[in-house]
Formats: sequence, structure tokens, C-alpha cells
Amino acid sequence: STPPPVAAPQPKVPSPVTVVEQAKRLAAWTAVDRHVHPEHKVIGIGSGSTVPYVVERIVAQGKAVNKDRVFIPTGFQSKELIVNAKLLLGDVDQYPMLDVTIDGADEVDRDLNAIKGGGACHLREKVLAEAADTFVIVADYRKNSEVLGTNWTKGVPIEVAPFAYAKVLQNLHLIGSPKATLRMATAKAGPVVSDNGNFVIDAPFPEDMMRDPYTLLTRIKMLTGVVEVGLFCHMAKAAYFGNQDGSVLIK
Ligand code: 5RP
Repeated sequence: STPPPVAAPQPKVPSPVTVVEQAKRLAAWTAVDRHVHPEHKVIGIGSGSTVPYVVERIVAQGKAVNKDRVFIPTGFQSKELIVNAKLLLGDVDQYPMLDVTIDGADEVDRDLNAIKGGGACHLREKVLAEAADTFVIVADYRKNSEVLGTNWTKGVPIEVAPFAYAKVLQNLHLIGSPKATLRMATAKAGPVVSDNGNFVIDAPFPEDMMRDPYTLLTRIKMLTGVVEVGLFCHMAKAAYFGNQDGSVLIK
């Protein structure tokens, strides 16, 4: 008797996670291919879940080019990435001028202003973005919007000196963010503590204030006790967004 037909292998339907990861990788690889050139010797590596794909692509450029480079991390996670990839680790106090920094973002608006600090790394991220000749953002399609605060609704991340947090919170409530709250690790563990030993506040603002992020940034930064604000205005040269269909949008 003839054997029963064997089902042909079916292509796997990608799960949403796979689509998002693929989008992050596409953005990261495209940005590295366009902005990290052999003559670039000092490279800033940002934080978050998109940045491992940046390092992956830089490693693929080969040992010959990477042996003459130094990589500056924006926090503990990127330091581990650099070390694990066997790349040379440096610090921004040794190398205050970077050729290029590539980092993720929580949201990017039509003018390339960004919200950053979802991972509480925005102080160091801003230093490395500012220190670089070229600052480039890589993200998946969910981070792209017209106006900040549309997709990222948790609020503007604000790093504060621990002893000043209650006063800063009160002042944030007064300037237009009544729902500003201290970011907690868990109720038991207490507040999130940044790599710099500070606390982080998440402050949502109304749309009319988010439409002018530079003015908002300067107002928040004026509050005593604020160390750095996760609004990156006029800093990025380009932003790369991986799309669900495998294409990359460049802003
Ligand atoms: C950390 C950041 C990250 O760059 C931002 O949260 C984006 O992360 P991801 O690539 O995981 O979406 O600002 O402070």
C-alpha cells in the first residue's frame, strides 16, 4: 500500500516579537553601514534592546578595522556588550571627542527630537550624543511619530538627585505634569537607581507642551535637583526605523 502523504514544511509565520526584533536589526545594520566608516576610530555605543544589533554589525566589519578602534559605552549594559564582543573599551573622559554615536530611542518626532531614558541611561547617552560628530538613532517602527508623547505615553524620563526628588516632583506637578511619578523597580525594591546613583521621574505632559520639546526641556532643566532630562532636541543627524515589511524608513 502507498504511504500517506507527508505534509510539506510550512514557512514559519513570524510572531510579533520576531517582527519587532527583525525591524530593530534592520535599522541597526543600515545605520552602521551608512555611518560607521573605517576611518572612524572612537565610537559611542548606546543602551537598550536595539543596540546589540549595532554591535553585531560593527563586529561584522572585521577584526582588521576594529583593532584600531575604541568603543565608549553609555552604561553597564553597553559596557558588557563591548567587552563580550572583544572590542576595546574606553571612557568619555579619555576620549571626549567621538566620531559617531549610535543609540536607540523611546520615540522620535518629525524634527528628529527624541525621548530617551526608558532604560534610565539618558544622562550618559546625552553626553555621548553631544560629544559625537554624528549622532544617529536606531529603532523599530513603533518609535516613529509626529509629536513626542504620542506612542511613548509613560512621560519624559528625568534623572534627579535622590535627596531632591520630592521637591522636583512637586515642581513638575506645578509646571504641567500632575501625573509625574518616581520610577520604581518594584514596590519592594524601591526606586530605580541609575548608573550614576540617581533616581528617575517619569513626567507625562500635555500635547501642546510636547509639541515644543525644546522649551519644555529648558523649563525642566531649570528645576533644582534635576540632573538630566530625556528630551534630546536638535541632536540626531538621522533616525533609522525598521519596518514590519522589511524596509527601513530614514528620517
Ligand atoms: C535607555 C534608552 C534606550 O535607548 C531606549 O529606551 C530605547 O531602547 P530600545 O532599543 O530597547 O527600544 O534611552 O535609557
